[in-house]
Amino acid sequence: MPVPTSTPPADLLDAGERLSPDELRAHQLKQLRWTLRHAYDNVELYRRKFDAAGVTPDDCRSLADLARFPFTTKADLRETYPFGMFAVPMERVRRIHASSGTTGRPTVVGYTDGDLDLWADVVARSIRAAGGRPGHKVHVSYGYGLFTGGLGAHYGAERAGCTVIPASGGMTARQVQIIQDFQPEIIMVTPSYMLTLLDEFERQGVDPRSTSLQVGIFGAEPWTEEMRREIEERLDIHAVDIYGLSEVIGPGVASECVETKDGLHIWEDHFFPEVVDPVTDEVLDAEEMAAGGSGELVFTSLTKEALPIIRYRTRDLTRLLPGTARPAFRRMEKVTGRSDDMIILRGVNVFPTQIEEVVLRTPAVAPHFQLRLTRSGRLDRMEVRVEARPDATSSERDAAAAEIARGVKDGVGISVAVTVVDPETLERSVGKIKRVFDLRSQNPEG
Ligand code: DLL
Repeated sequence: MPVPTSTPPADLLDAGERLSPDELRAHQLKQLRWTLRHAYDNVELYRRKFDAAGVTPDDCRSLADLARFPFTTKADLRETYPFGMFAVPMERVRRIHASSGTTGRPTVVGYTDGDLDLWADVVARSIRAAGGRPGHKVHVSYGYGLFTGGLGAHYGAERAGCTVIPASGGMTARQVQIIQDFQPEIIMVTPSYMLTLLDEFERQGVDPRSTSLQVGIFGAEPWTEEMRREIEERLDIHAVDIYGLSEVIGPGVASECVETKDGLHIWEDHFFPEVVDPVTDEVLDAEEMAAGGSGELVFTSLTKEALPIIRYRTRDLTRLLPGTARPAFRRMEKVTGRSDDMIILRGVNVFPTQIEEVVLRTPAVAPHFQLRLTRSGRLDRMEVRVEARPDATSSERDAAAAEIARGVKDGVGISVAVTVVDPETLERSVGKIKRVFDLRSQNPEG
């Protein structure tokens, strides 16, 4: 598939993308000061936290001064459930979203008309960066509802002048039919659900490489370069990464440019990034990150009205790099995992993406796997359950199991048991995939 665009013509860039680095910094400082003041004056929790830290919005005179302000965490949003972080009266809140979370109360976020407008703008920008143009049809398979994926992608695609097919998640057989009949150029979906759709194409006897799709915009969960290759190869498309989180706005905080596919440009005129050491909370500087240092991504909104967010701890691990295809904006490296998803197995830190890399390099198995953690006696154990490819022989399956165990031992440094199960036996994703099953509390010590 040829790259749909090289560097886009200037008229495809919006005003924010045309700011020079100096103009961008000036805009960020002005908006940061506005945001701190807006949050302090209108949200009790921020006022309390700033007071406790001994800072006022007027103490922010440079972008570096942001480091003096307290962090915000998911616990803060839970504490103020449902609407306590809103900084505008409810009459001005036009929409509410919520992220389910696996434990505790959901986190609730709100948007004014202005916020919805800026959200559509940044998603439209992301779609253009992926090669989307007015007239393209965009098939949206992110879930619609309280999750920000579906509606976020939807309004962004409309803003980009595209034609939206609001498929949402699920009804996989029908989605495949619709893609064949409606002929979209672009699909927006989680990478794991894309795999489910790919299997369905094959089940229906349709060659996925023959579809009209040219570009996939994948996000909402971590995925690897190996997964990119798998999807690009099987669908003959360009696969780019889109990142975001409800607390900051939803999809469209950062996105990859199709011509470089080298990490995600952060739309810094709206979302100011920092990376901090998760243990010391110190901000990492550009030199440390250039030398390979990574940490937890932290965001401050610069233009949001209903829910200004100050130094939000995302728990996502990455590092910041200079811009390339959009030189004024910094890039974030592909997120390898969340600190929450990190498995500590016999003292070694493991992310599911590290296992994904090994599984996807192994020819006789499909890209469907689960990680099951159990405890026998005092020993934690991890089993990798992975599906065989339909045509794999039993000796190929045995060889694949040994190869994965060796790959994980060499690459990650832990011993795992590998079970190659029959095709189509592991649960498929319809949205964000659950890879890790922690059964350790069910068979505790003894
Ligand atoms: O997942 C928003 C979104 C929708 C992004 C569609 C992209 C596409 P939440 O449900 O609040 O929002 O989950 C946010 O998902 O903190 C990351 O851990 C993870 N995440 C999102 N995008 C990526 C990505 C949406 N591209 C959480 N790579 C974030 C890795 C991602 N992780």
